[in-house]
Amino acid sequence: MYLKTIDLTNYRGYERTHLDFPDGITVISGKNAQGKTNLLESVFFCCSGKSHRNAKEDEIILFGAEYSILKAVFERNHVAHDVEITLQREKRKKILFDGARISRTSEFVGQMKSVLFSPDNILIVKDSPARRRNYMDVALSQVFRGYLKLLIDYNKTLAMRNALLKEGPGHSGWKTMDVFESQLAHYGARIMAARRNFCEEAGKEAETIQNRISGGEDTLTVTYSPNVESDATEEENRLLEEIGRNREKDIFRRTTTVGPHRDDILLLVNGKDAKSYASQGQQRTAALSIKMAELSFMRKYTGENPILLLDDVFGELDAKRRQQLLTAVDDCQVILTCTNIDSLPIDQRRIQAQFDVENGVISPARNRQKTL
Ligand SMILES: Nc1ncnc2c1ncn2[C@@H]1O[C@H](COP(=O)(O)OP(=O)(O)O)[C@@H](O)[C@H]1O
Ligand SMILES: [Mg+2]
Repeated sequence: MYLKTIDLTNYRGYERTHLDFPDGITVISGKNAQGKTNLLESVFFCCSGKSHRNAKEDEIILFGAEYSILKAVFERNHVAHDVEITLQREKRKKILFDGARISRTSEFVGQMKSVLFSPDNILIVKDSPARRRNYMDVALSQVFRGYLKLLIDYNKTLAMRNALLKEGPGHSGWKTMDVFESQLAHYGARIMAARRNFCEEAGKEAETIQNRISGGEDTLTVTYSPNVESDATEEENRLLEEIGRNREKDIFRRTTTVGPHRDDILLLVNGKDAKSYASQGQQRTAALSIKMAELSFMRKYTGENPILLLDDVFGELDAKRRQQLLTAVDDCQVILTCTNIDSLPIDQRRIQAQFDVENGVISPARNRQKTL
């Protein structure tokens, strides 16, 4: 699959931009704060229906404008498709796929697929469990059609149960508590099964990559760490039982304390918690390894190569890590950003399109002729 064109209207600093992409390597260079990440964010948005930075839609719309429009045309198996997303202040986003109105984001996510690498990937290792859940959810939503819907249904039910917990057992709606709990167990168990499989498969791959990059020095261990322990066959019953068992406590706390909204991934380097004990270098390698594993998981289950979005990554990586990342560049369409094209570890002859970005305006690179 590859992205052919993108059209942005009032997307962050881009008032109006049209870009054509080759099915190869595109480089976008520019100084800081000119709009490089914003452009990759817009591509990611067309794949996932949201920002990789978890920005709210209000933050994305150009300052002072009322709406944003993103249009992407991509090609999959020799067939062109188009996505059009309209964001409006204080309104729900509108999505058209091949001209037809999509009523739920979950129906279109994954039509176009991407994996975004950025120096912030290290936060998967260093940050809170929410970051690691998001890492799993982004990959799973693009790969499995029903996953995002499960997640949305789970979160909606969770919000309803939490609202009821705040009302307390005296409330007239309390009799629906049992229904909410069995729905949470139903959706939750399926989310857990998908995450368990993801951690097992992508985890193993990440462990191999870390081993390769570190020349056998470091052992990474990736383990799904569900909030409710169970074996894979009993997930729904176990979850239902555990939610019920915690009901009294939840009434007191006025929130749901158990379930996959509290899951985590346990990351160990040489047997110790990577967040607290690994060096910055080991953490960076672990982050790269698990992102590379996400990419191969997506390839395995969809038979397609996602679009690789590389946001200012090469400066952060040493030679071995660069080499590892470059193995992926051969098979995928790549859109990468940098501040200085001369320091890219990529043969300039392989770069098929090159743009400069300055203050939200993108133009063909001035030094393009020279480099060819
Ligand atoms: N909604 C918005 N409207 C206009 N400009 C925006 C909006 N959101 C962010 N920006 C601008 O985008 C710029 C940052 O762009 P970014 O893509 O992160 O830069 P970089 O090139 O360093 O990756 C900042 O100058 C910021 O003011
Ligand atoms: Mg940036």
